[in-house]
Amino acid sequence: MTAADARGVALVTGGSRGIGAATAIGLAEDGWDVGISYRTRADEAAQVVAKCEALGRRAVAVQADVAEAADIERLFETVGAELGPIGAVINNAGVVSPAARVDQYDVQRLERVFRINAIGAFLVAGAAVRRMSTAHGGAGGVIVNVSSRGAVLGSANEYVDYAASKAAVDTMTVGLANEVAKEGIRVLGIRPGLIETDIHEPGRLDRLGATPPLGRPGTAEEVAALIVFAASDRASYLTASMLDVAGGR
Ligand SMILES: NC(=O)c1ccc[n+]([C@@H]2O[C@H](COP(=O)([O-])OP(=O)(O)OC[C@H]3O[C@@H](n4cnc5c(N)ncnc54)[C@H](OP(=O)(O)O)[C@@H]3O)[C@@H](O)[C@H]2O)c1
Repeated sequence: MTAADARGVALVTGGSRGIGAATAIGLAEDGWDVGISYRTRADEAAQVVAKCEALGRRAVAVQADVAEAADIERLFETVGAELGPIGAVINNAGVVSPAARVDQYDVQRLERVFRINAIGAFLVAGAAVRRMSTAHGGAGGVIVNVSSRGAVLGSANEYVDYAASKAAVDTMTVGLANEVAKEGIRVLGIRPGLIETDIHEPGRLDRLGATPPLGRPGTAEEVAALIVFAASDRASYLTASMLDVAGGR
């Protein structure tokens, strides 16, 4: 198969900006039709759709908050109806909170970050399995969970809550991969390090950008390249693995 051949339909949550946008475009380059979700930035989502279409693929953007189970179901139904059966799901949407120590967290902060990053990722993965698993009459597929090196490093003095929500995603990746391995679904985790996107508080990249062993932050495209590989048949013997893309961090 060449990159120009059709691969099927991929769904990317949080595809309007950053790593998700680069991944949607990378998947289109690799032959996938692409459905993306966004929370508020409709204009930026539309630009990503236009870039995927300019690559000769079909694409659609759907407003859907991954903190809301009903939104996730509507997202999957809309992408399936408009583009066809989904074969790859990139569980990418995620948030951080302002830097603070654990002794400063309140329950609202904790509920928001776990609701979006951990519960949202579980709900998206479940919706994917209900459609792709051969046990549910599906044709199989791939789930790629976007975690973080923070899950291992702990993100002290910044957002230990975020790091812990991503550790939950890592554990889900391994457990789910084993649940569905014989149902035609591979499940992989991607752990980016410090990547140049808008997720960072102003000044954080300037302060920390040179600290990874490779001496610079990564780009969204460098993470997307690994996600596109993970979703492809080129990664056919990979499942239940965490792939780090972190410049040595
Ligand atoms: N950048 C890094 O250094 C880094 C490092 C490790 C891991 N990661 C992980 O990589 C993933 C992408 O991060 P990024 O840096 O690309 O972030 P970003 O530039 O802030 O983009 C976040 C994306 O997620 C969407 N989103 C946010 N909350 C959402 C919600 N509740 N429901 C649906 N969509 C939502 C946003 O939609 P709108 O555009 O509509 O707001 C946007 O498309 C995240 O899971 C993040 O934790 C990032």
